[in-house]
Amino acid sequence: MPEPVSRRSTLRLVASAAAVAAAATGGLTSLTPAVAAGRPVTGAGPRAERLLARLTLDEKISLLHGATDPGTLGQAGYVPGVPRLGIPPLRLADGPAGVRVTRHATALPAPVLLAAAFDPELALRYGRVIGREGRALGQDVLLSPMVNVIRTPYAGRNFETFSEDPLLASDIVAAEIGGIQDEGLIATVKHFALNNQEKDRNSIDVRAGEQTMHEIELRGFEAAVTAGTGAVMGAYNKVNGTFACENRTLLTDVLRDQWGFEGWVMTDWYAAHSTVAAITAGLDMEMPDGTYFGTALESAVRNGGVAEAYVDRAVRRILSVMDRFGLLDGSAPPRPGRDAAAGAAVALEVAKAGATLLRNEHGTLPLDGGSVAVVGPTGALPFVSGGGSAHVVPDHADSPLDAIRARTRGTVTHALGEDLFGKAIPGPALTPAFESEGRRVAAGQTWEYDGTLTVAEDDEWTFVLHFSSAPTARPTVLLDGAELFPLAAGYGEYFSGGLVATAPDGLGVRRRTLRLAKGTHTLKISAAGGDAGLLFRLRRITGATRALDVAEAVRAARTARHVVLFAYEDATEGLDRTSLALPGHQEQLIRAVAAANPRTTVVLNTSSATSMPWLADTGAVLQMYYPGQEGAAATAAVLFGDSDPGGRLTQSFPVDDDHHPVAGDPRRYPGVDGTEEYSEGIHVGYRWYDARGVRPLFPFGHGLSYTSFAYSDPRARWTRDGLEVTFTVRNTGRRTGVDVPQVYVGRSPDLRLDQAVRVLGGYRRLVLSAGERRRVTVRVAPRTLSSWDAGRHRWTLGTGRRTVWVGASSGDLRLRTSARVAAARH
Ligand code: BGC
Repeated sequence: MPEPVSRRSTLRLVASAAAVAAAATGGLTSLTPAVAAGRPVTGAGPRAERLLARLTLDEKISLLHGATDPGTLGQAGYVPGVPRLGIPPLRLADGPAGVRVTRHATALPAPVLLAAAFDPELALRYGRVIGREGRALGQDVLLSPMVNVIRTPYAGRNFETFSEDPLLASDIVAAEIGGIQDEGLIATVKHFALNNQEKDRNSIDVRAGEQTMHEIELRGFEAAVTAGTGAVMGAYNKVNGTFACENRTLLTDVLRDQWGFEGWVMTDWYAAHSTVAAITAGLDMEMPDGTYFGTALESAVRNGGVAEAYVDRAVRRILSVMDRFGLLDGSAPPRPGRDAAAGAAVALEVAKAGATLLRNEHGTLPLDGGSVAVVGPTGALPFVSGGGSAHVVPDHADSPLDAIRARTRGTVTHALGEDLFGKAIPGPALTPAFESEGRRVAAGQTWEYDGTLTVAEDDEWTFVLHFSSAPTARPTVLLDGAELFPLAAGYGEYFSGGLVATAPDGLGVRRRTLRLAKGTHTLKISAAGGDAGLLFRLRRITGATRALDVAEAVRAARTARHVVLFAYEDATEGLDRTSLALPGHQEQLIRAVAAANPRTTVVLNTSSATSMPWLADTGAVLQMYYPGQEGAAATAAVLFGDSDPGGRLTQSFPVDDDHHPVAGDPRRYPGVDGTEEYSEGIHVGYRWYDARGVRPLFPFGHGLSYTSFAYSDPRARWTRDGLEVTFTVRNTGRRTGVDVPQVYVGRSPDLRLDQAVRVLGGYRRLVLSAGERRRVTVRVAPRTLSSWDAGRHRWTLGTGRRTVWVGASSGDLRLRTSARVAAARH
């Protein structure tokens, strides 16, 4: 678990340009040449061995767990070195959308938006920005990327990862790791494995079959290993009965024996559960402290509970990666300075490239220069990133409102529409009156209020408390004797959301909604100034204030030519969503505004799939996820057509909460009695929709351009390197645009294993000018044409005639051909 960043405390390995290139050409995520040739990906060189021989047991143990950093960079983890032998300390920072320390860094778009560009080359550059910044900001290890598959639309970290499709996830993770490590920062792929939800993440026992694991979740991790990731982070959850961080099947059989990984495995934060079981299963490092791998491990070695060879193995793995990155002999290049301008340029490019236009009726977009009403709180307040350990301190963040104003000569107005932070409680409602809008309590003082709140009519009230202290020291507010803002259990206070949990002036925010009857209610507040003094506000949102906000938005919508309504959903690590609907009263706001002006574009700053019962009312919907520090400029560029929306969905969007792969069976999600069955098997994401014949709201791969494309002349042929699919793409519209044609492959008639109706075989991101045509070849790797045979514990090529489709999404298959896949030595 992460703590607030303020308290948390190369070789150049080279992601082989070859691995990146392979990924870019259609996901050749099979074994690296080194592993295929029986050679280790890395080896403990003589330097690491020599050091190991000179380390005392105490010193070895000190390398195997985290400790408090004497420095002040504020990253998540620290491992002291052994100065006597010139072994430097390691500083480990989150990830994944930039470098998370207490200083400013480039806040890149969320990884899901990066993946939406379907462009491994862009992922390489995204990785390079992080790699350089990590080193510039004093870090050695990046706790990222995250490659867990998007299995449930509710998972709180879907924005931190890439896709429901293992091929796309593999391509992006391999390329990003290449970029990070090219710059000399050690990458950590996480969370190994099956950490596909936040609900009960510390204890849930995920039950999944071997075929499901290998074909869906593990492929991305294997690609990361193939790309040379220095480290792997074990997940919190259990996998088939055993915690991931002490799971021999994962940590030794799969990671080491099957994939040839020679880097080190660390725990997720506080995810260790044992000493001997964990180190013998294959865990190398406990983070962020030494509860199990500190004195407990040392005693276990001294009293014969575990052989010192296990300690040596773990130390050797860590030292050999450090050696690969030049950290042991001073050969690592000097730490560079930050290049904030280059980081910002990549952040902008990624946000534009991943912008996904879901709907565009009657030419609603691009905007034509007429007046614009910007509606929604996140129109004025930039939505940069999600919450939890993914939050980066951005260099700057502009509001979409300002970016839109900067782009047009037309009149631009803003209406709140939906109030996030509340309005003052009218003075006469409080007896005795008190300054509820800014009450200061001096350090060491306490302040008490004992009065009444008078409510004019039965109504829904949302109380909004703003406070300057730590959540645990916030004021206590009792309404009719009951605590309005009780402290959430466990890590609930830490994982309380990103943007909406902080007021624009930096105060913490908590909300509580309840129905209040007309009349007088007792209100008691006690606040303590603590060491630093306390500032707090108590505000409210009621049905009446809400109606005024909506009415103002409707008025603005009526008088403007265009409406751009910014809708949000504030996801964070540690929590899953409980509904696919937009939170609060945003659905009603969208309906009211779109009824007033059909040229309404909804911009979604959301983490993952959203249900859209209001969709048909709108003119356009633009999915921007959490677009990073340049998100406002990128959004404006796409809205005005300076940039073609180049993103495609990396996950299927369900119609509602009842029609998606984990609906209707709590054993499948979120689990029953601590256990969860991945009973959908390999049918994750679009594979499930295809298998069940269920129509999603928007299919995997969907995304519109401002121009149109036609596909023709498909050919498919089997070659030594896989299936070669060639077709022609033509821009049939009148402007330059981005297309992402996708190749899907059907079942093998020869395999007696469960198979998906079709799987993504490859894709190509293209920029074509008006009228331009291009012949495109996409190679489908043998791995993508193979199934995991659990009986024989290996991949089996799906031979025989296989249907090949070329489409604009998994639901828009436009061309069809076939080819015979032959058994070959791959
Ligand atoms: C998260 C990891 C993160 C770690 C350190 C954990 O809670 O699951 O993704 O790297 O904290 O901040």
